[in-house]
Amino acid sequence: MSIKLENPGFDTVCIHGGHVADKNRAHLTPIYATSTYTFDSAEQAIALFSGSEKGNIYGRFGNPTINEAEDKIAMLEAYNLSDDFGNPLNLKAILHSSGMAAISTMLLGNLKSGDKIISHFSLYGGTQELLDKVLPNFGMTAVIRDFRDLSKVETAIEEDKSIRLIYIETPANPTIQCFDLENLALIGKKHGLIVCVDNTFATPYLQQPFRYPVDFVMHSTTKYLNGHGTAIGGVLVGKDIYKMTTAITKTHRLLGANSNGFDAFVLTNGLRTLGLRMERHCYNAEKVAQFLSINPNVYHVSYLGLPKHPDYEIAKKQMKHPGAMMSFELHGGFEAAVKFINRLKMCTSAVSLGTCDTLISHPASTTHAGVPREKRLAFGITDGLIRLSVGLENINDIITDLAQAIG
Ligand SMILES: Cc1ncc(COP(=O)(O)O)c(C=O)c1O
Repeated sequence: MSIKLENPGFDTVCIHGGHVADKNRAHLTPIYATSTYTFDSAEQAIALFSGSEKGNIYGRFGNPTINEAEDKIAMLEAYNLSDDFGNPLNLKAILHSSGMAAISTMLLGNLKSGDKIISHFSLYGGTQELLDKVLPNFGMTAVIRDFRDLSKVETAIEEDKSIRLIYIETPANPTIQCFDLENLALIGKKHGLIVCVDNTFATPYLQQPFRYPVDFVMHSTTKYLNGHGTAIGGVLVGKDIYKMTTAITKTHRLLGANSNGFDAFVLTNGLRTLGLRMERHCYNAEKVAQFLSINPNVYHVSYLGLPKHPDYEIAKKQMKHPGAMMSFELHGGFEAAVKFINRLKMCTSAVSLGTCDTLISHPASTTHAGVPREKRLAFGITDGLIRLSVGLENINDIITDLAQAIG
């Protein structure tokens, strides 16, 4: 798109991808803080609205700061992938006000009343609540199955012809389960389903779902893509360019799910270092997981890089590295988790993930508090579960802080 070199590397795409030279020679694309755009003539307004001329119209439809982030993310998700004809894969990304907005556009832009979604245990709490509490009011319901058991997934799809969409979040929040993207996508396609993947935990640096027959990828850009915790955002990326520029664009605009210049600007800046940051996140996470897994006060650790994790092999197959998210439980359950969090001296106690600093959260009382307890427990989100987003601090400092807080 904007890179004239052939076959640029991933980090080069992070830095230069999607950039369009500014007319005023600004090095970085400025923040477009304007709600609307002027027309040179009535004819131009007609041309822009009809689509015969490309250009900016109204802030809810996008702006140049937003376009840069969108094009960069599309290029990163498509990095080194080909389409069915062997040509470089072309994707379209639409930036949203949040990850939840991107998920909502994807679902509402594809489904109608009476349609069902098939998904798995242990989704991000907000997504789980959207499926449980909001979509049923509009006649859309979810069938939940254990996605580690592919035959159960296929049987459920065969038994219910209303299932239209397969929704996969891998690695999943907060249990760090990992699901077989290739085989789930193939099952979905065999039965004519729309296949979509929440790639927030992995980022395109670690995992590219479009390697498989996947239709849509969503991210909460709030997390690793931004990387600095400076803005809430989301992105929906699609392979069917026609659908993305018609039905999905329409849904995005009419739901008012748009991003804005400031959020897009800080996202673009964060994306420039995505590859570098992910390397360090992953390096640190490996060390932290090793430390936790031999600490006698730790009851169990869920990290995809530990061979005893049930999804170790799947993660190895589809991810470049097992990532920097993990969850663990101390002997002593809920009380021990509370004590641990209150004793931390450096790691930050906060929800969210993927920022430079190490973030620690307690899903049962925060992000998943809206999920009924029995359901939560069945999904593996126990009362004592602690989620850890390993940051970029010096590894010795992270481990020192965890060690003193565990006691
Ligand atoms: C995996 C995943 N998907 C989606 C979301 C929702 O993103 P946002 O908070 O940006 O709406 C989150 C938020 O934590 C998440 O962890």
